Amino acid sequence: MIHYTIEELLENNQAWVAEKLALNPEFFNELGAGQSPPYLYVGCSDSRMPLTQYTQTEPGEIFVHRNIANQVSLTDINFLSILDYAIANLKVQHIIVCGHYGCGGIEAALEGNTTGLVDNWVNPIRELYIQKQLEIDSLPTREEKINRLAELNVIAQVKNLYQTSILRKCMRENNAPDIHGWVLNLKTGLIQDMQVKSSEWDLISPSCELEENVT
Ligand code: CO
Repeated sequence: MIHYTIEELLENNQAWVAEKLALNPEFFNELGAGQSPPYLYVGCSDSRMPLTQYTQTEPGEIFVHRNIANQVSLTDINFLSILDYAIANLKVQHIIVCGHYGCGGIEAALEGNTTGLVDNWVNPIRELYIQKQLEIDSLPTREEKINRLAELNVIAQVKNLYQTSILRKCMRENNAPDIHGWVLNLKTGLIQDMQVKSSEWDLISPSCELEENVT
């Protein structure tokens, strides 16, 4: 792995700008005019997880929120602001929650052996592990246990998205973006779609119909 110096980072930037301008002289004028990205990406802060590179997308295509172990926290004002803005103002059509194998946050949740703030942050994933302990503990290797919990975490975070007031409002108004749960395998670079079905988390339909009948 190359580690550039700070000076080299700035030189790289100049080279990249020159490359972009050679292909499209209007590239930065277009970027400067504003953004309307179709995607919101909720990913892990891990340095190996820049989704743009894995999906060959350009600046302006993906609105981003990243934190340790790609969590959707219903009390995280930063995340909720991003979600609200992405839906109400940017009108994103898709939300992608993307976790990854070999995730340090998941490892911390599973094994509980770090000694920092991360322990607090990943506690909901530890709760998830306790819920699914039978399934996870039955897997033969440590790697498989960590990776399965990463998959289950993505599904849980998609569920959490549907539990936000922001998404519920969209669902009532029938303009909810599509939500996708993905897991990236760092050993292959390939993304797997977990095929999380939105109907599983459709928490509003039965009670909503009831409410409509009552009023
Ligand atoms: Co991670």
